[in-house]
Formats: sequence, C-alpha cells, structure tokens
Amino acid sequence: MKSTYSSIPKEYAIDQTIAHTNYLIDGQIGTWDGKSAEVYSSIQTENEKGEYGPTLLGTVPDMDEKSALDALDAADKAYHKGQGQWPTMKVSERVACMQKFVDLMKLKRDEVVKLIMWEIGKNLNDSQKEFDRTVDYINDTIAAYKDIDRASAKFHQEGGVHAHIRRGPIGIVLCLGPYNYPLNETFCLLIPAIMMGNTAIFKPAKHGVLLIAPLLEAFHKSFPPGVVNIVFGRGRTIASPIMESGLVDVLALIGHSSSAISLQDLHPKKNRLRLVLGLEAKNPGIILPDADLDQTVNECISGTLSFNGQRCTALKVLYVHEDIREQFLEKFSKAVDALQVGLPWENSLLTPLPEPSKPAYIKDLIDDAVQKGASIINDRGGEMTANYCFPAVLHPVTQDMKVYEEEQFGPVIPVLSFTDIQQPLDDMSSSSYGQQVSLFGKDVNQLAPLIDTLANLVCRVNLNSSCQRGPDVYPFTGRKDSAVSTLSVHDALRSFSIRTFLASKVNDTNNVILERLMASKKSKFISTDYIL
Ligand code: G3H
Repeated sequence: MKSTYSSIPKEYAIDQTIAHTNYLIDGQIGTWDGKSAEVYSSIQTENEKGEYGPTLLGTVPDMDEKSALDALDAADKAYHKGQGQWPTMKVSERVACMQKFVDLMKLKRDEVVKLIMWEIGKNLNDSQKEFDRTVDYINDTIAAYKDIDRASAKFHQEGGVHAHIRRGPIGIVLCLGPYNYPLNETFCLLIPAIMMGNTAIFKPAKHGVLLIAPLLEAFHKSFPPGVVNIVFGRGRTIASPIMESGLVDVLALIGHSSSAISLQDLHPKKNRLRLVLGLEAKNPGIILPDADLDQTVNECISGTLSFNGQRCTALKVLYVHEDIREQFLEKFSKAVDALQVGLPWENSLLTPLPEPSKPAYIKDLIDDAVQKGASIINDRGGEMTANYCFPAVLHPVTQDMKVYEEEQFGPVIPVLSFTDIQQPLDDMSSSSYGQQVSLFGKDVNQLAPLIDTLANLVCRVNLNSSCQRGPDVYPFTGRKDSAVSTLSVHDALRSFSIRTFLASKVNDTNNVILERLMASKKSKFISTDYIL
C-alpha cells in the first residue's frame, strides 16, 4: 500500500498541496485567513527523506463559531421566514438554477474524482460512479420535482371547498454528510432540500472535504445569495451554535445516531425540528441450505467488502445454515483471500482505509472475538499495515463479541451458523438496527413466510443479492436506530417539504376570484400550468 510519486499515473498525481481557503456565505466566495486544518490521505507516499507516511494533500479553513453564525444568518435572510426570493420563486425558475448548477458541476468531474480517491481511498470506478450517480440524482430530482408540480397544478373540490394543494418549503436546513460517500450522500440531502425552496448550511464531512472545493463556484454562480452556504471546520464548532440558535427547521444528517442525538439536544424548540437521518446499520445476510453457493459467495463478497465494508448498506453479519456452513466458509474464505489490495487508481476492491484509527479498531474486534472463541477462517485474515487490514472472516461468532454488536464499518466479517431460522429472526428483532437484509435461498415455501417477517424487521429484503441503496428511485430508509425519513429521489422531495394549500368556499364570488387569479398568473403559488 505504499507508493512513490513516480509510480502514480500522471493524471491521478497530486502535483502540489492544495491550500484551500475559500468558503461560501451569503452568495460571496470569501477567503478565510484564520486557522486552517491539514488534510492527509492515508495513502502512503515517500517524502524527501525517503520515508513513507500519510500524504499531505493540503489545508482547509478551520472556521469558527462566528463564521457558522454568519452562514446561519445568510440562510435565515435568504429564507426570510418564507418570504425570501428563493422560497417564493416560481418552480420553473428554481429548476433553472438547479439545471445551471448540474451543468457547471459536470465540468469538475475529473478534479472531484481524483480527490475522492485520495481523500477516502475509494477506487477509481467507484469514485467515478459516485460522481456520475450524483449528477444523475440531480437530474432525476429535477424531473421528479416537475412531476410533483404537474400533479398539483389543479384544483380539488370537496365538501363545498375548492383546494389548490402544493408542497412548500420548511425553512433552514443544516446538512451534514458522511465520509464514505462525501459527495453523493451529502448531495442526496442538500439538493432536494434546496430544490423544494429551503435554504441550507452545509459542512463537509471530516474526510472528503477538499473535493467540495472545486464545486463552490458552481453553487455561487447558480443560486441566489444565502440559499446554499458552505463552511469548513469541526462539527462541534460549526454545527453546535447553529443548532443552539433554534433557527434550524430540518436537521439532515447521514452519520451516527449519537451525533444526531447530541445535535437535536442542542435545539431549544425540538418540536419545530424535522429530522432527515440516515444512520448506522448492521445488515445481515441469511443463507438458507438450498442457496446457490457461487452466486451467494459473489454477492456476499461485494456485500461485505465493497469499499472495504465502509458502506452503511454493507452486509455486516452473515448467518449460514449449518447444512452448508462448511462449504460456504471454504468457498467464501478462498474468495476473500483472492481479493486484490491496491491503490485506488488500480481499481482493486480493497484499498487504504481513510481513518487512521480504523486498522487498530478492526484488530481490536478480531482480538476480542478470538479471545472469546472465534477463529479467523481465511489464511490472510487480519494481516495489518499502517493504513490497511486484510479482511478477516470470523467464525463461530457469538453475541458476547464486540464484532457481533458493533457496526464495524470496515473489513471484518462475522459469521454465525444456525439450524433454526428463528435464531436470526430473533437476533434481528432484538437488534438496534433495521435497515436491510439479504436472503439467499430458492424454496418458495420457506422464502414466503420469511419475507413476510423480514419485511417487518427491516425496510428492504434483498432476494439472492447483496444490500444496497440504489437504484435511487427506490425508497431508502430504515427502522429503529437506522434512519428517520425516507430518501428516494421522490421521497426526499417530500421529506424536505410540507403540504400547504389555498382553500376557498365554493360560491360565485370566490369562484370568479379564483378564475381571475389563475388567468392573471400573478401568483407563483397558484398555477395550473404544465411545466415542460
Ligand atoms: O453508506 C451508505 C450508502 O447509502 C450505501 O449506498 O448501497 O449504493 O453503496 P450503496
């Protein structure tokens, strides 16, 4: 996992460190001249002394509380309690701003993809996919918003009342994303939030922060002042005072429930705070005796180890029926040991871990499990370097082991065996998580009642395939500690808006007024136009 600058393909090399000093507040790209924070890649390169170590990529502003409150003030001014230009703008005009943004964003693909690889170690294909999927998500959001608008471009008449019902914005959104999808997951919150007429403050995640810099100008050029405010710094310094102000209407966060809870706790008017949260998960794979072994092994490899297991949707525990336990473990361990470890641009599945503390954490999980009776089943399991740890398949895993309980978010795979299907079902019902499950098997008589139960324990049952968020038009959510609200392209627009309507009693006077309102086209809210 070491590289010399000369071994890095020219197009992916970072020729010089990036001193990023800009932020976006109130429509101005400002220059920060206060403290800065160094951004390191865990990819090791050789320094002038010939020593290997993490690569310094550059610096970002370490902004203070005042800047956070300036960003909040700008978002507040732009929303202006619902009276601002953005929340009252015609749908077609907001769509035009978003279209301009996505067109400008596309021009930055190579720059952003390169930084995704360096900052979080995601391989080239997946980094490109993250960028392209985000562009598609924005285009699909525009299309879905137009559909919502078309569906509401009419009047209803019930109980002697005419109603013109639309979805309106909620207010100010604080948007915080995760390091594993620093572009995609953050934009899956930010884009629908602003599309619906809200204004936002966005702080990039701890890892995956420089890659936002090339996009500041696109935001600046596309949206009116204060609609999107982008600040850099520590969560505690930036997010805490913003929440304490009580002005935030929506907390949009993908991360851990502990962060979501402490931020909610700071808000003085919790009843006013809407939550859009994607949180931790521990999706199980359940392997029945008649499962197609090759297909199951392939799906379990990508499910457990894509991006080294650092996905909220990753399979994080496997339950194998005792009848095929041995065959499965043998094939699966061989497949794990055959995986290539490499640098992101080499496109291997396994790449350096971006969090410096992750290898030690994974080692601790392995040691704890081994001490309590598990074995490392695969030959290479647990091989460690400073920025990497080869995936370990652990079996038999029991409930007293940390790796059973904790969301490992990294390359270690706990495997349990069962004879009675009630065991994994009971484990799932008593678990704190409830996002998805993968179910491997063929017998319809066994699958049917299982699917019925699993559908009530999680929010997506994947039949003979690994868990995943996409396609993004499908609902992405979870039960218990795994999520609040739903995030598909369409559902996210609903999550960031509220239904609001004009009601008018049916009588001659009102009917004439309504006709005039429609004909005059003077209201942006009342519109029966079909947006093309
Ligand atoms: O980290 C959680 C992501 O939403 C997972 O998305 O299933 O497309 O990798 P994915």
